Amino acid sequence: MSSPRQIPSILVRSYRIMHRLPIEGGAFRDVLAFTAHHWGKQPARLAIIMTAMLASTMADVLTPLYSGQLIDAVSRGAAAEATAWDGALAAFFMLVALALAAMVMRHIAFIGIVDLTLKMTSDITSDAFHRVQRFSSDWHAKSFAGSTVRKITRGARALDLLNDTILILLFPSLIMFVGSTALLGWYWPGMGLIIACGSLVYCVMTIMLSLGYVAPAASLANSWDSRLGGALADAISCNAVVKGFGAEVREDKRLAKFIAKWKHRTRRTWVRGTISSTIQGMTLVALRAAVIGYALLLWSRGQATQGNVAFLLTSFLVLHSYLRDLGTHVRSVQRSVNDMEELVDIQSQPLGVADRPEAKPIRITKGQIDFENVHFHYGDHRLRLYNDFSVSIKAGERVGLVGPSGSGKTTYAKLIQRLYDVSGGRVLIDGQDISNVTQASLRSQIAIVQQEPILFHRSLADNIAYGQPGVSQAEIEEAARLASAHEFIARLPKGYGTLVGERGVKLSGGERQRVAIARAFLANAPILILDEATSSLDSESEMLIQKAIERLMVSRTTLIIAHRLSTVRALDRLFVFDRGRIMEEGDHATLMSLDGGIYRRLFERQALGLTKSLSGPFCGPPLP
Ligand SMILES: Nc1ncnc2c1ncn2[C@@H]1O[C@H](COP(=O)(O)OP(=O)(O)O)[C@@H](O)[C@H]1O
Ligand SMILES: [Mg+2]
Repeated sequence: MSSPRQIPSILVRSYRIMHRLPIEGGAFRDVLAFTAHHWGKQPARLAIIMTAMLASTMADVLTPLYSGQLIDAVSRGAAAEATAWDGALAAFFMLVALALAAMVMRHIAFIGIVDLTLKMTSDITSDAFHRVQRFSSDWHAKSFAGSTVRKITRGARALDLLNDTILILLFPSLIMFVGSTALLGWYWPGMGLIIACGSLVYCVMTIMLSLGYVAPAASLANSWDSRLGGALADAISCNAVVKGFGAEVREDKRLAKFIAKWKHRTRRTWVRGTISSTIQGMTLVALRAAVIGYALLLWSRGQATQGNVAFLLTSFLVLHSYLRDLGTHVRSVQRSVNDMEELVDIQSQPLGVADRPEAKPIRITKGQIDFENVHFHYGDHRLRLYNDFSVSIKAGERVGLVGPSGSGKTTYAKLIQRLYDVSGGRVLIDGQDISNVTQASLRSQIAIVQQEPILFHRSLADNIAYGQPGVSQAEIEEAARLASAHEFIARLPKGYGTLVGERGVKLSGGERQRVAIARAFLANAPILILDEATSSLDSESEMLIQKAIERLMVSRTTLIIAHRLSTVRALDRLFVFDRGRIMEEGDHATLMSLDGGIYRRLFERQALGLTKSLSGPFCGPPLP
């Protein structure tokens, strides 16, 4: 019987691990099918594990039989005749042999499971990573990186529990149940029937109690556990605000409410766990009474010897020890299926933007970009951002994109990279429809400095060389110099070897931009896109970088998105975006000549603002 003290600790573990609502049949089926599919990849290993488990459990099934024979032999009395000795010795050797065999077999099975699980975990983790990397930008925009990471690691860990529970615990329990029932039924059919029926009732009841009574309460408790964690994190991470308003007591009270709710839910779960385990225990007591009673009956009728009674009792106790923890095993399976559900789901989600089966690498020689009657809207938006949008950028042209934020400039750059598929029309590069080429080939030939550059938590050198792995340190430094990044990098204690912190948090916005610009310089691609790449720089650094960018733009198609119009005024052509349309286009002079034009108005306002903000002792020459 499970000791009552054991239950809370099991539940503590379960409520910590399980953070999700109960699963329905579909998920159960999917996860088990997924697991079976991965088992199927290692058939020989699985066969060895199951055979070894079968053998070791059969040894457990047979052990009571020889214990009975030993007792029979011993009980023939001290007047030990030779036959009694022989019988006792034979039983003794069998018992030792069985124990040894069980141990060796179990060892083989466990080693097999170690390898099985490790291989499955590695496969599953790398499959998930492979897929997540190829999901569309839209998918990534909608999912939190942290939660995706958790889904993968938690799912992989749950697989370990699932393998162990099914192969080492549930499978042997089944063999034990069938084996003992058959063996006892062979000698005493009535006893076989009692054990078979009693165990079945026990199993069905345990499963029902675990899944129908304890699990729902546990998942509610878990959701409060998560909320409690969330409340703690929220208040602690905003501690500066709490302090600022002297609101510690208010936060204490707020947390107390969460704790009270959590306590209530968790108590219910633990109590249900205890009740369920007591009911299970009582069923086992009833079964035990029936088995012992029937054994006595057989003995009194002379149908069973002392040894037989010992055999019956030990057999029942061994079976009992296997069945006792069935409820825990069932909950473990449920918990691991729960934890694996989202990981399995990753494999079945569509990629969003997928390469066509016949897709070939794109060949960009000139860098002409055409949008032909493009329709586009973001997933859940009802209004189209681009409606029948057509525009051409000539090979080697240098184009500036300006306009209010939210007008669709970044989206334009994203569509060129095919981060999203258009819903109508085509985007062509050098005459090739980009939806027909491989995404990797397309994006590797477009160098981009994103609006909010993201850096890896790797060394600065690795970050700069990302677009062109294998370049020399001298080339990296050259690119950094061009991007005005060399100076600040050289000043860091570890220079180019400095790790930049998650997503580059250890650098200031301007420094991050300069590293990203250096990265784009090195990538040496025929198409260059700078999306507000210099927005966080002071005007002096911007001017320095501007020179480098000018050199880089030679013989490359370049798109520069900028808020500061002074950044783009010298370019060949400017597009003035507004709500997904190009309202004005032409070079600076043309746009300035438009009476009442948007560009002219914006430019004049910015020039005025700049002169004002620069007026003072450090004022430079006023902008035209
Ligand atoms: N991933 C996205 N999902 C949904 N809407 C988006 C997404 N990205 C941008 N938008 C919306 O599309 C419009 C254009 O955005 P964007 O191209 O980034 O503008 P800009 O770069 O000109 O500031 C905005 O209204 C913005 O809210
Ligand atoms: Mg933008």
